[in-house]
Amino acid sequence: MVKKFMVINGPNLNLLGTREPSVYGDKSLSDIELYTENSLKELGFTDVETTWFQSNIEGEIVGKIQSLLNLDYDALLINPAAYSHTSVAILDSLKMLEIPVIEVHLSNTHLRDAYRQTKLTAKSSTIIMEGLRHKAYLIGILSQLVK
Ligand code: DQA
Repeated sequence: MVKKFMVINGPNLNLLGTREPSVYGDKSLSDIELYTENSLKELGFTDVETTWFQSNIEGEIVGKIQSLLNLDYDALLINPAAYSHTSVAILDSLKMLEIPVIEVHLSNTHLRDAYRQTKLTAKSSTIIMEGLRHKAYLIGILSQLVK
């Protein structure tokens, strides 16, 4: 059976690679997508499908999360980026999902600004991963594949 993962990335993550590389690493979002998919294949997980979506707009992210209510995905990986700290709308949409929600932050936000310490979205996340940079998505997906 093919396992399907939706990967949602929030605002400013379209500029990964050039955006504060000392914090987020030097890989672009498409580099990370390729790294994740190639690594899954190399590890022998050939029956895995990932769908990647990025938006800088809160409502578009809410819409994508809502669309999962009618689709057959096994888990959602989401990096809500700055919206993690502010968005009740994204939190509320995540609460409706019955699949595992894996919240990813490339940086370890615990080492960072005080305003990054509150994560509204974490209230509906099954797993929270921080500080793994580009490896976070791969490891998040693997968490659902290994026993
Ligand atoms: C981030 C951390 C957030 O605080 C920040 O606003 C981001 C990225 C991360 O991946 O480390 O845009 O979610």
